[in-house]
Amino acid sequence: MEAIYLRLMTECRRIAARHKTPEFYRLFQPTLATSRRLFFHHPLVAHCRELVRPYLLDDFGHGLHHASKVSLDAGAIVLVEGDKYVSVPGELERAVVLVQLAGLLHDIKRAEADHASAGAKAARRFLRDFPLSATEVVAVFDAIASHEAFSEAPVCDTVTAQLVVNALYDADKFRWGPDNFTHTVWFMASYRKLPIAEVIGKFPWGVSGIQRIKETFRTTLGRQYGPEFIDLGVQIGKEIFQYLQRHVNDLKGEAEGSGVAVFSAEVGREEE
Ligand SMILES: [Fe+2]
Ligand SMILES: [Fe+2]
Repeated sequence: MEAIYLRLMTECRRIAARHKTPEFYRLFQPTLATSRRLFFHHPLVAHCRELVRPYLLDDFGHGLHHASKVSLDAGAIVLVEGDKYVSVPGELERAVVLVQLAGLLHDIKRAEADHASAGAKAARRFLRDFPLSATEVVAVFDAIASHEAFSEAPVCDTVTAQLVVNALYDADKFRWGPDNFTHTVWFMASYRKLPIAEVIGKFPWGVSGIQRIKETFRTTLGRQYGPEFIDLGVQIGKEIFQYLQRHVNDLKGEAEGSGVAVFSAEVGREEE
């Protein structure tokens, strides 16, 4: 990553550290610990993690870090939501495994157009030798195919599949909160060598889309705790924007020195 993006990402992390941790992480600590245990110790998930690692786009901000956070949060959502209506022993744990496989695989085609659809097809090929039933593979496929922001959730044949589909979407959209600024946006900018002015112009805090995502959470848990992630992200975005405005001249010199396209003082917003 170019030094200037790294420095701005570090600044974002400093700002984010002053904000509260989302309630989701405080209220569901034991459930998140269970999700984490399965993520690191269940043989299918561990096997998938090792296999998928070379295909994940770490330098595009959608690598193992992103996939792991989505998987862990999605697993916790499945455990809490599924506890209400999954009563068959072992079924809930199996649903966690499925959503974690989906979490690991959902962005393997992130740099492609229509990455959700391309990723779902790639995931189906990827899972060919995994000991999963056809129904389970369909659940993972549907979850990945429908994880794009604002897409409609498909109506699934089973409660478990519906839970997997909805939990993946919500955990992925939690990343539109603080993670967007502490991680994703800087990696994507560096990967695409975007001029700094363009990065700032794309800052989604002023974009209607980031607020509208709050209306799209699919699970009860997502609808309850997801908006706080988004609000925290917006707040951090506003602060980093103010920081950028204060340091506009320093950044201009840095950008020129680092070979990144010249910083423009015309920092505005544009629709994503
Ligand atoms: Fe994605
Ligand atoms: Fe994602």
